[in-house]
Amino acid sequence: MGRYYQMKALLEELAPGSGDLALAQAIDPARIPAHIAIIMDGNGRWARRRRMPRVAGHNAGVDAVRSTVETCARMNVGALTLYAFSVENWKRPRSEVETLWHLLRLYLDRELPLLMRHDIRFGAIGRLHELPVSVRAPLDSVARQTEGNRGLRLNLAINYGGRAELVDAVKALVEQARRGPLVIDEAAISARLYTAGLPDPDLLIRTSGEMRVSNFLLWQIAYAELYVTETLWPDFNRAELLRAILDYQKRDRRFGGIGEARPAAAGPASHPQGALIEAAPAPAR
Ligand code: FPP
Repeated sequence: MGRYYQMKALLEELAPGSGDLALAQAIDPARIPAHIAIIMDGNGRWARRRRMPRVAGHNAGVDAVRSTVETCARMNVGALTLYAFSVENWKRPRSEVETLWHLLRLYLDRELPLLMRHDIRFGAIGRLHELPVSVRAPLDSVARQTEGNRGLRLNLAINYGGRAELVDAVKALVEQARRGPLVIDEAAISARLYTAGLPDPDLLIRTSGEMRVSNFLLWQIAYAELYVTETLWPDFNRAELLRAILDYQKRDRRFGGIGEARPAAAGPASHPQGALIEAAPAPAR
């Protein structure tokens, strides 16, 4: 289905007089964020309030992932990056970590038809090589099966840390500098992040009210608009997402200037301060 028709179909599907329809109609389709990033927080609290085990909150969180992915695809959002597991999350009880892997496998298994129907291209970002094969294999498989899709780009950040990502980017730069001259500027760093080739997030959403960025996309959110809602992740539904996009559309984005203009594309010409690293001899082995 063409992207324009996806959004039209969404509007037609929403019940006349419903809150969701009023919200969707208020959104300017010409100013949909190119990239939305979400810190999905509050699963544990959601479960605690219901006197349920924490993992029940993660289980309920999967439905919020499904609804958010589908709505983003239908609203013609270019990319959606969801923070599913941080490099710090290994500190959680082993049983909780295992449940998260189980839910992830179930999600990948069940959602493939939806990803295909909505032309969604799936990818995972993070230190994926440190994940168990039982998690890496389905991630790779769904990425391969959706690589021809051209709609929403869905990234799951797994075993992800913003500082770890910068360390990996610096290592890649140093490695390349060993092989030949290299200009180091903002574009060179962006090109070596896990999100290379994607626009930076325009909108960063965090659920459950915490005012932190928690080591998420530290480089990429330099100019993102922040939206923090008290809603716990499992309760983050379509209306919540539409409200976040509407709020984003009311912001006056100045990027450090005086009008709405994105920063110039990073590159040697626009960043003359970029340092040139001369080829260094390979270290003796
Ligand atoms: C944060 O809530 C949430 C996580 C660390 C995991 C996110 C996982 C899901 C939404 C479900 C599985 C995801 C996919 C993609 C299938 P928390 O546990 O830190 O909540 P709390 O702060 O209330 O304890």
